[in-house]
Amino acid sequence: MKIIAFGASNSTKSINKALAAYASSLIPGAEVEVMDLNDFELPLFSEDKESQIGQPQAAKDFLEKIRSADGVVVSFAEHNGSYTAAYKNLFDWASRIEQQVYQNKPTVFLATSPGAGGASSVLTGAKGSAPFFGVDLQDAVSVPSFYDVFDAKTGEVTEPSIVDRLQIAMNTLAENVGVAK
Ligand SMILES: Cc1cc2nc3c(=O)[nH]c(=O)nc-3n(C[C@H](O)[C@H](O)[C@H](O)COP(=O)(O)O)c2cc1C
Repeated sequence: MKIIAFGASNSTKSINKALAAYASSLIPGAEVEVMDLNDFELPLFSEDKESQIGQPQAAKDFLEKIRSADGVVVSFAEHNGSYTAAYKNLFDWASRIEQQVYQNKPTVFLATSPGAGGASSVLTGAKGSAPFFGVDLQDAVSVPSFYDVFDAKTGEVTEPSIVDRLQIAMNTLAENVGVAK
């Protein structure tokens, strides 16, 4: 079972990338590829730019990575209540090539932030639009107060209730990989 995991952020210290990687590690036996959005850098999307350059390779590569996976784990960073510009830009480019960006892959959405809100606004938005973009959404989990519940040295969540909640989400994902809808 191949899982693609990424933080929807281009921060080199992304806590969402760390959370996506940790959560994916809870699926026993899975082959996990943790992607970095910095590997899919693109000019700012506009229809004018699209007319000039067509379908950029980085957006095709992103879609190909999702195509190659049996399941997807995304953790959304929240900037001013919404997606980071880096994710939204890549998503916009990708959606012009294939509107079903997530290609009906079983997917878990996560979100975290240092604060008590746990990036729940962006998670709510992502859940709401999921049906329009081919997301076979299995579960969605917000993790508040990231730095209080995560050990950066080990790369693991230390709060048992959150480990349990993430394990439930990952079990659901694993059970539904390969299940035709
Ligand atoms: C421009 C900007 C806006 C932010 N807005 C929010 C916000 O609306 N809600 C929130 O919980 N955190 C907000 N934060 C803090 C982020 O949650 C924090 O930077 C977090 O580390 C981002 O996730 P990442 O490390 O995966 O990029 C914001 C940070 C920046 C730089």
